[in-house]
Amino acid sequence: MPEQVLDSRKRPLRDLRISVTDKCNFRCRYCMPAEIFGPDYPFLPQHKLLTFEEITRLIGIFTSLGVEKIRITGGEPLMRNNLPDLIRMIRQVEGVRDIAMTTNGSLLAKHAKALKEAGLDRVTVSLDSLDDERFGWINGRGYRVQDILRGIDAAAEAGLLVKINMVVQRGVNDQDILPMARYFREKGHILRFIEFMDVGNSNGWKLDQVVPSSEIVRMIHAEMPLVPIEPNYFGEVASRYRYAGTNQEIGLISSVTQAFCSTCTRARLSAEGKMYNCLFASSGEDLRGPLREGKSDEEIRDIIQSIWARRDDRYSEERLKHTPGLPKRPKVEMSHIGG
Ligand code: GTP
Ligand code: 5AD
Ligand code: SF4
Ligand code: SF4
Repeated sequence: MPEQVLDSRKRPLRDLRISVTDKCNFRCRYCMPAEIFGPDYPFLPQHKLLTFEEITRLIGIFTSLGVEKIRITGGEPLMRNNLPDLIRMIRQVEGVRDIAMTTNGSLLAKHAKALKEAGLDRVTVSLDSLDDERFGWINGRGYRVQDILRGIDAAAEAGLLVKINMVVQRGVNDQDILPMARYFREKGHILRFIEFMDVGNSNGWKLDQVVPSSEIVRMIHAEMPLVPIEPNYFGEVASRYRYAGTNQEIGLISSVTQAFCSTCTRARLSAEGKMYNCLFASSGEDLRGPLREGKSDEEIRDIIQSIWARRDDRYSEERLKHTPGLPKRPKVEMSHIGG
């Protein structure tokens, strides 16, 4: 049995979200605005990235501390070559119950089958609009909706469980809420609406751009009646509803209006091997150094355990209390540690 390690607020460590690259082929304005992430942006060089062997070894150590769920993120994780090899290696690690991936979906049609065969359980595809013009503007590179829908279909055909994440911004894509709900209800995939957050340092977040989940629920319920359902597991991020008379569900991720820090069991690992205790942390703690210096599993385990034991983060709850007056401080970029 793995040891239970609790942080300073008595939260166990259950999920590890691993960024495998800081690169992305999109330039979503709320995440990697093109003015900042331009042609000269210093992305991580290959030798600074954790190797697949290093990632797998760390996962083995994390599972001995209670981690059961692995999520592969980026940037865009499919920008990293040979990702199915990594999935195959992770699948062999004892204690890993669930392997998911967050992707923008643009390369999914090409890779879905190989990922499933390697042992991936599920994908979460980010898609903010079904309108080509708006979607092209949001992703900053003119990618088309059809390419993503094709990726989603390929993932489902390959046998992967599919969820869709839509970040809702007032005045940008709030008119897409109902069309997205109708489309994915029909398709049978779980759509989750995410409140726009002040991640990173460059996304220009303002509270009035947030569409509260309660408003989204009201809007959908008026056309397609909704029934609330219980969480699937302790600390589930999304609150769930199903369409009355069906088993088809949606989720609401209310990180701004109803913060969920008190049950947050998520650690994050950047592509260069830094461990972050929070999506909004200013800095991470290096694990690549100890790995490459030849430290033993036990020594690295002690390092991870002490990082988690010191953990006191609860940024979203603090934001909720202090918005709009939360003091500004540097935060890790979302493209650096994934969502
Ligand atoms: P499941 O394992 O399918 O339940 O996934 P999940 O609910 O963990 O969701 P996912 O990884 O798809 O996250 C969806 C979105 O929720 C992310 O893109 C973030 O915007 C937000 N989110 C996820 N985890 C956190 C978190 O720890 N803190 C905050 N503030 N937001 C989070
Ligand atoms: N607020 C909420 N969600 C965000 N994501 C990226 N930036 C933000 C933000 N500012 C989401 C993406 C994707 C996941 C990686 O995080 O849309 O679903
Ligand atoms: Fe890329 Fe996802 Fe960030 Fe968009 S939100 S730029 S797809 S990492
Ligand atoms: Fe967890 Fe930090 Fe998100 Fe709160 S803000 S839920 S502590 S990652």
